[in-house]
Amino acid sequence: MIELSRIADMRGWSRARRAEGRRVGFVPTMGYLHDGHLRLVDRARDDADLVVLSIFVNPTQFGPSEDLARYPRDLPRDRACAAGRDVDCLFVPAVREMYPRPGLVTVQPGPLGDHLCGPRRPGHFAGVLTVVAKLFHIVEPDVAVFGRKDAQQALMIRRMVSDLDLPVRVDVAPTVREADGLAMSSRNAYLSAEERRAAAALPRALAAGHDRFRHGAREAHAIVAAVRAVVASDPTVVLEYVEAVHQETLAPVTQVDAATLLAVAARVGGTRLIDNIVLGDGLAGDVMGE
Ligand code: PAJ
Repeated sequence: MIELSRIADMRGWSRARRAEGRRVGFVPTMGYLHDGHLRLVDRARDDADLVVLSIFVNPTQFGPSEDLARYPRDLPRDRACAAGRDVDCLFVPAVREMYPRPGLVTVQPGPLGDHLCGPRRPGHFAGVLTVVAKLFHIVEPDVAVFGRKDAQQALMIRRMVSDLDLPVRVDVAPTVREADGLAMSSRNAYLSAEERRAAAALPRALAAGHDRFRHGAREAHAIVAAVRAVVASDPTVVLEYVEAVHQETLAPVTQVDAATLLAVAARVGGTRLIDNIVLGDGLAGDVMGE
């Protein structure tokens, strides 16, 4: 595994590999790697000859009151995880390399930013889209893999690539969960033992929504109520939102179908967690941990 930190080196490496006729797969991350990230690496390898993994805690996607300073970081551990998963190239740029001066021109999410996490995290998705556009221009991958755990992010990246004709194929992989259903996340490291136990209410609540759907409910409010009821049973989990939304526009629906996205955000202690399912699939559409 080669490790690069300069934009010019990364672009040079990638262009040389592609000139040899090799297809480059790309997995962008903010590090503190877990099995959810590493399965994206496996998926990139299935789609390409070589895999580039980037680790960059992108400051522009954190709001002023968010967790940028304390976001978990462990580069030596991440390096070992990436090498153990046969990553070919680790790209770890410094903030001054990615942002030598504050950017004036950004990529904005448009109306997809009006829903779910958009209004709760002003500027977040513009930060994500801008850094992902930059990374695409630096790595020039044939295919890039994202997780459905961040469904709104993945959808926006698909639309950015399509609307701006970026020459990359976007692949979206299922959510990887712990044995009790909690979606893996670098932020789970913030949870105390008690909070960690309570956080499992989120996938349980989504499963309750799915159950209601399987038993014939088609009114969004009935499904949302089922989710709320489960979350309300644990005072440690404070719901920020639960919404049934159209999977392409993210607009709230009143009548659901199998393709409807059921998305939640909640605070467990000081930690903000998100999760979602596609209603027709439930948790069965995801990868459950051992
Ligand atoms: P990060 O939270 O590190 O996630 C990197 C990628 O891993 C994203 O595509 C995310 O959806 C995926 N991922 C995280 N947890 C997952 C899980 N449990 N199952 C499946 N996939 C999972 O998302 C970001 O970083 C950043 O916003 C980034 C895209 C790198 C831009 O800075």
